[in-house]
Amino acid sequence: MEEPIIRVNHLQTYFYVDSRISRAVDDVSFSIPKGKIVCIVGESGCGKSVTALSLLRLISDPGKILGGEVLFQEQDVLKMNTKDLHNLRGNQISMIFQEPMTSLNPVFTIGRQIVETIVEHTLLDEKQAWKKAVGLIERVDLPRAEQIMTSYPHELSGGMLQRVMIAIALSCDPSLLIADEPTTALDVTIQAQVLDLLKGIRDESDMSILFITHDLGVVAEIADYVIVMYAGKKIEEAPIIDLFQNPRHPYTKGLLKSRPIIGQHQDRLYSIRGQVPDLSELGQNCYFCDRCEECLDICKEKYPPYLSDGSQHNTACWLYEKGELNESASGTN
Ligand SMILES: Nc1ncnc2c1ncn2[C@@H]1O[C@H](COP(=O)(O)OP(=O)(O)OP(=O)(O)O)[C@@H](O)[C@H]1O
Ligand SMILES: [Mg+2]
Repeated sequence: MEEPIIRVNHLQTYFYVDSRISRAVDDVSFSIPKGKIVCIVGESGCGKSVTALSLLRLISDPGKILGGEVLFQEQDVLKMNTKDLHNLRGNQISMIFQEPMTSLNPVFTIGRQIVETIVEHTLLDEKQAWKKAVGLIERVDLPRAEQIMTSYPHELSGGMLQRVMIAIALSCDPSLLIADEPTTALDVTIQAQVLDLLKGIRDESDMSILFITHDLGVVAEIADYVIVMYAGKKIEEAPIIDLFQNPRHPYTKGLLKSRPIIGQHQDRLYSIRGQVPDLSELGQNCYFCDRCEECLDICKEKYPPYLSDGSQHNTACWLYEKGELNESASGTN
């Protein structure tokens, strides 16, 4: 794989509520190559946001990062002092969220909010920062930049606000942008435009993007590499084409089957039976075995190891060994 901008090793983040422990992120490892878009996909509650927030150490009570490493330019974020951490969050890694309104202050103009961010994180004065802000507004393809600068958040549409958030995120020229469901609240055409914008920015600036979504349609649009999470675990990862053409884990296959296919009549959309387990009640077994159509005896006893065959496509499933379908295991259902 290409040189990574960030490497996450054995990340473990748990939540402690009423003497119960939710294993929200459990032993998750991955890297994000420079200039590439990595998508994390999985059902609600599987640990996508907690993974993203852990990279910036934005986990607070009742959550706790228990272990692992987050190596950014060879420095472990989990061990950084407050000053380095502040610098990392403001200047190297930016984050955008699903709801732009909650990140913007309704009583200040867009311009003032962008200028403030720029002044805080650079050596520019207000006048220079204003100029840079106008440039950023233009860069995210918003028309009449000067007019946008003097508008208040409620005067803009959801799609425009998400572009403003992207402009703010870009103001420090980050080398990594973390985007947590940034298009989920937008309608489909606007969503497609925002995805195109992010791809364009990636292409022209070589920025890396960690993109979180539960929508495989969005993954297909934007990802270079995909990580599939299930119940706090990474269960499969692959370059985009491999994942769609040759999914391995029965959960990934289920997700792909649950997608509506354009031009193909489906009486009823497939859905994976059962529900995601409670993350505070996980046993020794594979967490997906109750819902799995290919479950083996061993799956009910032992969680499968995450096997790497030296390629970029790997999975944690007893059906596979070294990337090949495990013939001795299959068929003993
Ligand atoms: N503030 C919290 N208090 C207690 N448990 C939490 C908290 N935040 C997250 N968790 C636990 O972590 C798990 C993973 O949450 P996370 O927000 O990462 O899910 P997600 O994959 O982002 O879901 P969604 O698609 O709905 O955003 C939850 O299922 C829950 O068990
Ligand atoms: Mg989330």
